[in-house]
Amino acid sequence: AAPVTYQSESATISRGVVESNHTGFTGSGFVNFDNVTGSYVEYTVNAAAAGRHSLVFRYANGTTASRPVDVTVNGTPAVSGLSFPATGAWTSWQTVSTNVNLVAGTNRIRTTATSANGGPNADSLTVDVAGTEPPPGPA
Ligand code: GCU
Repeated sequence: AAPVTYQSESATISRGVVESNHTGFTGSGFVNFDNVTGSYVEYTVNAAAAGRHSLVFRYANGTTASRPVDVTVNGTPAVSGLSFPATGAWTSWQTVSTNVNLVAGTNRIRTTATSANGGPNADSLTVDVAGTEPPPGPA
């Protein structure tokens, strides 16, 4: 199955706001994390199978410093200090990829800013929801 994209503006946001003032986003906008440690965006993702799944975050960072986040899945730490490097401008969008274990069904994937600068401007999360399930074989 094709990967599924989840828009940040439709996610659960704590200490952040949906904005659309920097062009190039997909959907109807992006999330501007508040510039504090602990601001987060949490995506509710439905995986077909348990196992390792790829996550692709689309973001912009118009500053010169990385904006790292911690990634948790269903409240459990999954990736620590995932780096979101400078993209050159707030209108320049790039992707950062990682892999996490998901359960079959609903997963809460939370990205929490770990520095006082907050997270990057977050456009979307694309997940390989088909994951690592082996192909069906003979009964
Ligand atoms: C600027 C920019 C915002 C960004 C913010 C930040 O204000 O316009 O989109 O989120 O910087 O540093 O986080």
